[in-house]
Amino acid sequence: MRSLFLLFFTLLLFSACYYDKAELVYPAVATCDTTNIKFSTSLMPILNASCNSCHGGTAAAGAGIVLDNYAGVRASVLGGKFMNSIIQNGQASAMPKGGGKLSACDISKFQVWINAGMLNN
Ligand code: HEC
Repeated sequence: MRSLFLLFFTLLLFSACYYDKAELVYPAVATCDTTNIKFSTSLMPILNASCNSCHGGTAAAGAGIVLDNYAGVRASVLGGKFMNSIIQNGQASAMPKGGGKLSACDISKFQVWINAGMLNN
């Protein structure tokens, strides 16, 4: 009988220690989805939000760098300054000028799109 009580309390002790809050066991990791990257839906929103106040068609800062259409962005990438400017490695003017650096996730979206051949999709 006594050993049964012991067993009971031992089990109670262990069950009380079991901690299974999902958010503590599996902490949320910031995910960066770079699957299915498309110029129009993945990149244009970033360019419009962070670049095109200065690089939109009529504004076109920086010796005519136009980033509000496919041809302009492609030309800028081929010119070699685009990625250098957003990764801010010192080999081009750091962009967005006067603003915060793009998130690592947004930067990787451009790299994925370039590696895939800069499709106009
Ligand atoms: C506030 C205005 C402004 C914003 C916002 C801005 N740019 Fe610029 N950008 C400029 C100006 C002005 C230049 C000309 C070079 C300079 O003055 O640094 C330039 C130059 C550039 C260049 C050429 C860099 C070089 O060294 O020749 C690239 C590429 C560029 N911008 C890309 C971007 C991208 C991509 C974004 C958004 C992530 C962006 N810019 C946001 C104003 C801006």
